Amino acid sequence: MSVSIREHLILGIESSCDETAAAIVAGGRRILSSVVASQIDIHRKYGGVVPELASREHLRQIVPVVREAAGRAGVELRDLDAIAVTRGPGLIGSLLVGLTYGKVLAMALGKPLVGVNHLEGHVHAVLLEAHTAGRQPELPAVCLIVSGGHTILYHVTSESENGARRFAYARIGGTRDDAAGEAYDKVARMLALGYPGGPIIDKLAPHGNAQAIRFGEPKMSGNPHDFSFSGIKTAVLYHLRRNPQLQPEIEARQQALARGDRGADALRALCTPPTLDLIASFQRAVVASLVSRTLVAADERAARTVLVSGGVAANSELRRSFEAARRGVEVYFPSRALSTDNAAMIAAAGHARFLAGDRADSTLEAEANLPLV
Ligand code: KG4
Ligand code: ZN
Repeated sequence: MSVSIREHLILGIESSCDETAAAIVAGGRRILSSVVASQIDIHRKYGGVVPELASREHLRQIVPVVREAAGRAGVELRDLDAIAVTRGPGLIGSLLVGLTYGKVLAMALGKPLVGVNHLEGHVHAVLLEAHTAGRQPELPAVCLIVSGGHTILYHVTSESENGARRFAYARIGGTRDDAAGEAYDKVARMLALGYPGGPIIDKLAPHGNAQAIRFGEPKMSGNPHDFSFSGIKTAVLYHLRRNPQLQPEIEARQQALARGDRGADALRALCTPPTLDLIASFQRAVVASLVSRTLVAADERAARTVLVSGGVAANSELRRSFEAARRGVEVYFPSRALSTDNAAMIAAAGHARFLAGDRADSTLEAEANLPLV
């Protein structure tokens, strides 16, 4: 792929959770390569990410993944303009692998290093693809980042600074307990649907009646823009206790999973209509809460743009519901590939910071709870 002289070439490196990723992005919006080595198969049998296993796997993957990103892009590392690396939030052992490698590479190549907040990366995943498609999301925007680790709403603004665009983020609200993706994963575990739970629940939910079971909206005092998903998860648990007739099929699905039969058709064949109703009703409750709170926040801030990002942004029902309820607001989603963790979004966020003059040095530290400001 040809690269125009004025486009900066940024290598993005991401290792905050269970994906080792590297990407090369030109001019902050043209993805020349995006390589993601997923660890799902390693963590599946534990039903969630095991931090020690994650860092060990990142160590194994980081060098080949960066090499592959350069190879696929047809770019020599010495031709890069900068290296952008995730420095938080995330699992500390995982973050350290990507950050240390990014630092060493920057030093060895004599290239500028830019530290990127993973959440800012998710915001830029949406902007990046909108730009690629020739669309220009109007800011200020409200951004919902919704994944296995996060459910958080930001007000995103930008201003010009020496000809570059500097982005700013203000937290509007977030989950008080489980992230939405975590609730999907835990409910899938209770129902023996495999890991991760989001994609399979997404596929099974259309086969059930979403109105069958009413999960009430959580009653919370304080910030009206906060979310809570642990109540819905517990309601599913109580529903299963009250309905012991659903146990034999749970055991049948456990056996199917143990045999490696985790396809949607195989699992659906082992779900009775009441289970499919439960799945559909759970998804409806989660999606309704995400959509309504995000649109209320956009309305209050008179934002005409909503950005939705993170693993759960891949959800079909979430996309449909936002489209149906958006009332004059433009809603942007990344493609499914850029919804989940990747390094193209880190390179794009890093490009904006690079243009705004941000430079890190070898003292840059990983921060597990790094806030986005
Ligand atoms: O962003 P991500 O890859 O990793 C982090 O958690 O940071 O998101 C993974 C999460 C998992 O909880 C997974 O169940 C959920 O995203 N997910 C989905 C879908 N695809 C992935 N949730 C609902 N519907 C989906 N289609
Ligand atoms: Zn993420």
